Amino acid sequence: MFQVKIASSGQMIDVPPGVSITEALEMNGIDIPISCEEGWCGTCMTRVIDGVPDHRDTFLSPQEHARNSLIMPCCSGSRSDCLVLDL
Ligand code: FES
Repeated sequence: MFQVKIASSGQMIDVPPGVSITEALEMNGIDIPISCEEGWCGTCMTRVIDGVPDHRDTFLSPQEHARNSLIMPCCSGSRSDCLVLDL
């Protein structure tokens, strides 16, 4: 499990195993635009302020993955205990 921190409000959200970040956000009343939910369309792209994403999408390039400043929260996870998202 890891946590997502909403930068604008400071809210901390638990993301349990088997639950996507977008699902965890939704459960907490935070809806972000989603479409494919499989990591290829780019609709859910979100800026990462802190933390290291576990990239599982096919939308971002390897260079963008290495930069760790963007995430596709419909399918990707986190390598760090907490991801701070620009939401
Ligand atoms: Fe398509 Fe996330 S909804 S990449």
